[in-house]
Amino acid sequence: MSPQHFLIFFLFLLSFHSLTSITAQDTDFVHQIDRNLLGLDMKKEKLSHFKFYWHDIQSGQNPTSVRVVSPPLNLNTTTLFGLVNMIDNPLTLGPELSSKVVGKAQGFYASASQSEVGLLMAQNFAFIEGKYNGSTITILGRNPVFNKVREMPVIGGSGLFRFARGYAEATTHVFNYKNGDATVEYNVYVFHY
Ligand SMILES: *[C@@H]1O[C@H](CO)[C@@H](O)[C@H](O)[C@H]1NC(C)=O
Ligand SMILES: *[C@@H]1O[C@H](CO)[C@@H](O)[C@H](O)[C@H]1NC(C)=O
Repeated sequence: MSPQHFLIFFLFLLSFHSLTSITAQDTDFVHQIDRNLLGLDMKKEKLSHFKFYWHDIQSGQNPTSVRVVSPPLNLNTTTLFGLVNMIDNPLTLGPELSSKVVGKAQGFYASASQSEVGLLMAQNFAFIEGKYNGSTITILGRNPVFNKVREMPVIGGSGLFRFARGYAEATTHVFNYKNGDATVEYNVYVFHY
């Protein structure tokens, strides 16, 4: 190859390189990576079933569920439409509040239906038990509380629940009509690594 030809070839390579480098693949903003670099080996994905009880404690000196927004007084509704409660509800292994605490349900629920008591649930299950200590599962879903079983999506998680997906089924165990306290059984089915 003569020096001129080499130069032309070199310039061709250079322009080819600058053409490819302006495609989205190679910017500093986004890169494709091998999933195994994050320990996300597909074969290691597992399906776990968690069962625990969720305690909504509104009564007494130390409520874990507090009303932060009341339904507007001018609305004639029996569904508490507009209500918002902030929660830091204990999650226990057994139905009794005295049984082992495995985490807290932190978030809020809001009355989002005018035709029934239907809650929007936005909560993180923050676990403290064993290897799950510090990991969270995030639930965002609809909860028509007087239905026997309510299904809510698991929309993600952190720690051991990175990339989590799945669903939770909630069933009321006890509801105290006098003071509003409730114990709800949660069964959570979640894919995670
Ligand atoms: C509220 O609604 C109920 C039935 O939906 C009705 O019987 C009642 O009169 C209403 N009350 C007011 C103050 O509008
Ligand atoms: C969970 O982790 C926190 C922070 O690392 C630690 O302080 C706490 O003792 C742990 N709890 C349990 C039950 O292991």
